[in-house]
Amino acid sequence: MTMKAVRIMSPGPAKSLVYESIPKPTLPSASVLVKNKFSGVNFIDTYFRTGVYPTPMPTVLGEEGSGVIEKVGSDVKDFAVGDRVAYITRTASYAEYTIPDDRYIKKIPDSVSFELGAASMTQGLTAICLTNQSYKVKKGDIVLIHAAAGGTGRLFVQICKHYGATVIATVSTEEKADIVRKLGADNVILYTQEDVPTKVREFTNGKMADVVFDGVGKSTFQASFDSLRRCGTLVSFGNASGKVPPIEINMLSKGNIVLLRPQLYGYLTTREEFETAATELFDLIAKKVLDINICKIFDLKDAEKAHEFIEARKTTGKILLRIDDK
Ligand SMILES: NC(=O)c1ccc[n+]([C@@H]2O[C@H](COP(=O)([O-])OP(=O)(O)OC[C@H]3O[C@@H](n4cnc5c(N)ncnc54)[C@H](OP(=O)(O)O)[C@@H]3O)[C@@H](O)[C@H]2O)c1
Repeated sequence: MTMKAVRIMSPGPAKSLVYESIPKPTLPSASVLVKNKFSGVNFIDTYFRTGVYPTPMPTVLGEEGSGVIEKVGSDVKDFAVGDRVAYITRTASYAEYTIPDDRYIKKIPDSVSFELGAASMTQGLTAICLTNQSYKVKKGDIVLIHAAAGGTGRLFVQICKHYGATVIATVSTEEKADIVRKLGADNVILYTQEDVPTKVREFTNGKMADVVFDGVGKSTFQASFDSLRRCGTLVSFGNASGKVPPIEINMLSKGNIVLLRPQLYGYLTTREEFETAATELFDLIAKKVLDINICKIFDLKDAEKAHEFIEARKTTGKILLRIDDK
């Protein structure tokens, strides 16, 4: 049996993504087979594609998805054929079928669409875990969030506002500035035109930020560092502009800065950790604290266009691949 999937054979540009038929995965006894409806596209997929994050080749890309369980392994107790689910996975959702790690599958109620299920997982869990565990955002904090109109950034804005923080958001265009203001950002910096630490100083009357969430990486790292108060925290969690070059550790002593470089899976090592974070995520969606904007849906065969779209900084929410929406 075969299935359609999108694979990368060797590191390269978006056009190196290959839509083709490959063998349908065989189900181990402890897992479930999901017939996918939607797969989420994340910036990290481009890191695997280009080789920024090395991965064995060929690889089916895709870190999250939603669909219906088609088969259940004989050792599985918690899921049944026909369950509607969303999941995160270490690559493999740009495909008709996926066998996710059963620690990372969440049943979704009928009230949650397959689109929303796939769209909420990676970026939503990241925003929840990093604002609770990398740095516990609390009422009164001043939080600087880079690329705040992007898929992950807009969720950080909404969650930090919900926790009672003052949010300073950076974006590249006026159109994105309007988006983040509507999401509740208190101040906006056009970081392609304005000096970030200078603006942060102005907005905070010299207090500076308690924490910076920086998924942009190379181009913002120094500005993030210079925007913090004494003993502030820099959470560097991505490389949209390129990897942060090696740093001289003594730079942290200027202001006793706390620097973290977390990854989502470091906070989700067990089924219980995933379940706690995913329950919180769906609760925040149900309470309308989080508005997950599905920015664009491409067909699976057009994954190349989806990668070009995210790399061209066009995302103002989630990008999905439609696999089977029947
Ligand atoms: N550590 C983790 O576990 C984890 C988990 C999820 C996501 N992340 C990271 O979070 C970041 C955001 O991911 P996402 O999927 O939500 O993507 P996204 O924010 O929708 O897209 C990336 C954004 O980065 C900004 N950017 C700045 N310089 C850029 C450049 N040179 N090229 C492209 N974009 C640039 C752009 O916003 P502007 O136009 O406003 O500049 C762009 O829209 C990524 O770095 C990703 O790896 C990390």
